[in-house]
Amino acid sequence: MSGNDKSIYAEPADVDGDTLANLGPLRALAGVWRGEKGVDVNPKADGPETRSFIDHIDLQPIDPQTNGPQLFYGLRYHQHVVTPDEAGTYHDQTGYWLWEPATETIIQTLSIPRGQIAMAVGRAAKDATHFELVAQRGETTFGICSNPFLEEAFKTLAYRIAVTVHPDGTWSYAEETTLQIKGADKPFAHRDSSTLIQIRPPTPNPLARAK
Ligand code: HEM
Repeated sequence: MSGNDKSIYAEPADVDGDTLANLGPLRALAGVWRGEKGVDVNPKADGPETRSFIDHIDLQPIDPQTNGPQLFYGLRYHQHVVTPDEAGTYHDQTGYWLWEPATETIIQTLSIPRGQIAMAVGRAAKDATHFELVAQRGETTFGICSNPFLEEAFKTLAYRIAVTVHPDGTWSYAEETTLQIKGADKPFAHRDSSTLIQIRPPTPNPLARAK
């Protein structure tokens, strides 16, 4: 049964079917991108390992999404990372980047095949060229959820990402995943950064294509 508060079912009046025109600071990320200069610092038994990587990131607009009165415009993404010297996947990640114009809030959801998910949040002006998001373990809203082995052996305490859009249309990210590794006396900073160059523009969202 529905509750008494009917306002949670209210629908926003001003939904625009053209997502690319309403992405605020995320507009600069839409498209298909390649990065050849990624750097990863990851945990290994003998200490931190630093590796170069090649990024492929596909970020495509989805139709406007409402939750009752809440309205998001967003990008669905798939990031696939390889190394220059090894066959196969080095890192794989999917999720959404969401922009809520009413509150100037950015959300990133992420899912990685280690059996781990996170949702990070940050605030930015709609024309911002730099923004930062954070997720914290233990939070039920913008948190991190791991499978039991990771929770025991590589407890992920926090995830943060900073994105900078450059004047030439490229953009960079720098992210830090803080891991409490079993037996270690202090947290490990698992770091990843890359600069992305566009190889294809985005495909308009289904509703925009239908018009
Ligand atoms: C470009 C981004 C990333 C790359 C290239 C990357 C790569 C790696 C690599 C190579 C390892 C060591 C794996 C091993 O030795 O088996 C690792 C460990 C780990 N990563 Fe990432 N990672 C990235 C982003 C992330 C993100 C966003 C998260 C979570 C929010 C994450 C969570 C972890 C965890 C929990 C481990 C420890 C598990 C283990 O070492 O077996 N990583 N990562």
